Amino acid sequence: MANTIINGMQWGDEGKGKIVDLLCPAFDAVVRYQGGDNAGHTVKFEDRHFALHLVPSGILHPETLCVLGSGMVINPDTLFRELDGLTEAGVDFEDRFFISKRAHVVLPIYPVLDQAREAAMGKAQIGTTARGIGPAYESKITRFGVRMGDLLASGWESRVEDQVERLGREIVALGGEAPVEHEVMARCRDWVERLRPYLAETESLLNGWIVDGKSLLFEGAQGALLDVDHGTYPYVTSSSSTAGGACTGSGVPPTSIDGVIGVLKAYTTRVGGGPFATELEDAMGEHLRERGNEFGTTTGRPRRCGWLDLVAAGHARMLSGVDSIALTKLDVLDELDEIRVCVGYRLEGEIVKSFPPSVDLLEKVEPVYESLPGWKQTTVGALLLSDLPQAAQDYVSFIEEWLEAGVGIVSTGPRREETIVRDEENLSRLTGGRLSDIVEAAAGNKAPARN
Ligand code: IMP
Repeated sequence: MANTIINGMQWGDEGKGKIVDLLCPAFDAVVRYQGGDNAGHTVKFEDRHFALHLVPSGILHPETLCVLGSGMVINPDTLFRELDGLTEAGVDFEDRFFISKRAHVVLPIYPVLDQAREAAMGKAQIGTTARGIGPAYESKITRFGVRMGDLLASGWESRVEDQVERLGREIVALGGEAPVEHEVMARCRDWVERLRPYLAETESLLNGWIVDGKSLLFEGAQGALLDVDHGTYPYVTSSSSTAGGACTGSGVPPTSIDGVIGVLKAYTTRVGGGPFATELEDAMGEHLRERGNEFGTTTGRPRRCGWLDLVAAGHARMLSGVDSIALTKLDVLDELDEIRVCVGYRLEGEIVKSFPPSVDLLEKVEPVYESLPGWKQTTVGALLLSDLPQAAQDYVSFIEEWLEAGVGIVSTGPRREETIVRDEENLSRLTGGRLSDIVEAAAGNKAPARN
């Protein structure tokens, strides 16, 4: 067995959803531990596509237990929409979907406040997803928040009323329109009975499963560089999106975690504001956006695109303690003559190799690039690393050497079959010796993973 964290190594949208889906056969449960419906990925199930924002993609595997952990902020309206979609598609989740009673509720006033604040910030705006994530975490930290479990007891109504009044005043002061109190209250009351069957003391549940020998996969949302402490603050999300958040956000102690798989896109993208050293605001950026279909699942916004930044990814590797890398969207680079990789920053006349701690410094850096030859052939659907063109293999090796971590998975397309799974030591350990189950899921056969 193994308890493993999946963590994005950039600013989100690394393709974690596909990797979680791929790894599911080796795990008994998938646990989300931070964020809310600001996250999102599309998954295909039979002939339908689902945009999932809260529910882990593990829900589509009939045996997989799914948990929304205590570190999350949950908008019940979004949740019910997702659950309804799953029910319509015939997915049965009744006895295997659990929500922590300690997770916080995204009250209907939070998205309105999020939008009013962003509108008032003008050019300095963060570019949030407008889902009320910041206000929800702010209420949690200032101890005004309402937790999922509170909805089952008495006393929550006065807490919600208090927030509607206080935050309503702020919305009006910002020039927005505050939600009507009795409508907010009615919506919250409607949620209670529907939530009840899923609410659980998930911290005990998860630790009990570990004692029983089950394997848990912790699914990080966003990416390490959006972490509220370690990312490009203030252009970050409001939760701990590095691997460390998995423990605080689930109640599973660090001593029970076996390691971390970092998901790294073969180039870089970012949504919203904030520094982005390798951004390409030219035809190459446009090429990556079009070929990589880089438009947000949650907001539909075009993503900013640029070359792979190994300084930023190295920061993520250190923060999350990445043991094994899943490299995604390699195929997006298939047509390029030359591929650039950022291996340092020029800052105030010096070359730095570490990620500067503040936005004002990050805005001044100039990337130092290493140029690698493109392969100009398709990589889509290769099953072995040795099937890839030599220049693509060299690109993978370059990343491994630079980040000092092995690449265990290479994704060359959105479908499960478009994945190379290598018999890499750490990946094997982090999947509890069940690597062949993953290879089978990826390739549809029982061939052992090879290099
Ligand atoms: P918030 O999480 O909605 O408050 O947004 C804060 C920042 O995080 C903005 O730049 C968002 O674009 C970014 N962000 C939040 N969730 C995601 C995600 O799932 N993928 C990529 N960026 C995200």
